[in-house]
Amino acid sequence: MHAVYSNSIPDEEIKKPSNDLTNKVALITGASRRIGAIIARQLHAAGMKLALHYHHSETAAHALQAELNNQRSESVLLLQADLHNTAKAISTVRQAVEYYERLDVLVNNASTFYPTPLGKVEEKDWDELMGINLKAPFFLSQTAAPHLSKTQGCIINLVDIHAERPLKQHPLYSTAKAGLVMLTKSLSRELGSKNVRVNAVAPGAILWPENDLDEVSQQRIISAVALKRHGEPNDIAQTVLFLVRDARYITGQVISVDGGRTLNQ
Ligand SMILES: NC(=O)c1ccc[n+]([C@@H]2O[C@H](COP(=O)([O-])OP(=O)(O)OC[C@H]3O[C@@H](n4cnc5c(N)ncnc54)[C@H](OP(=O)(O)O)[C@@H]3O)[C@@H](O)[C@H]2O)c1
Repeated sequence: MHAVYSNSIPDEEIKKPSNDLTNKVALITGASRRIGAIIARQLHAAGMKLALHYHHSETAAHALQAELNNQRSESVLLLQADLHNTAKAISTVRQAVEYYERLDVLVNNASTFYPTPLGKVEEKDWDELMGINLKAPFFLSQTAAPHLSKTQGCIINLVDIHAERPLKQHPLYSTAKAGLVMLTKSLSRELGSKNVRVNAVAPGAILWPENDLDEVSQQRIISAVALKRHGEPNDIAQTVLFLVRDARYITGQVISVDGGRTLNQ
């Protein structure tokens, strides 16, 4: 005896609008420039209010705030902090919640990236790379969790394809991002019953690091990408928007946005 399934899905199920983000609040770390700024523009364009965190890039942060507030007044709050300082990281979340009286999304985007060849690593490198790529996201997430629970919100962590496949000469960065992948999965278990989703986006080659990468190295990387080109920051921002707005039943997942680069290794 076969079970009988109805294949007629009610129209309203299909047409149901995506989760409306208007006036919901996202805190994005390291959001004044590069990929973080594009994520900020994308979430803002979808109707969100932003708590836009920066560290050193004050001018860029103010320019982005002015640009977005010009589109919708009082839609962007700037928060400056060195996220190595855990008290300041915690206070960053608290200031965002105090100002907007809610928090719907935390995007852990801030990062540092530089080579740490074995034999030359000092403790300060460990503290720097683990601190910003792993420790800060943990304490930001822990502080944000009860507020996200109230709004059925979510956390998005920016990881890296090299969290799974170590990047040569970058053992600390690769390990820190691998830790952030595990944090994504672990927190998704911890927070699932509290209605908070936790996911990660793993970029491939999107924007070259600012501390020089020669043309030959760039070409070598691109030749390993199935699509034979680097990605755009908007490819990352659109994936973040998908996870925030449309992925109501996705948690604990890492989405690679790498043009197929990881197929090759
Ligand atoms: N670019 C790529 O192709 C690529 C590839 C793989 C993964 N990713 C990941 O995607 C994310 C965005 O990449 P990106 O290249 O745009 O990042 P990025 O430029 O390396 O860093 C983003 C921001 O992090 C902030 N930051 C650094 N140290 C900080 C500290 N101690 N306290 C607070 N903020 C600090 C900086 O803010 P200020 O400028 O204000 O100081 C910086 O602008 C990162 O998590 C990165 O690891 C990127």
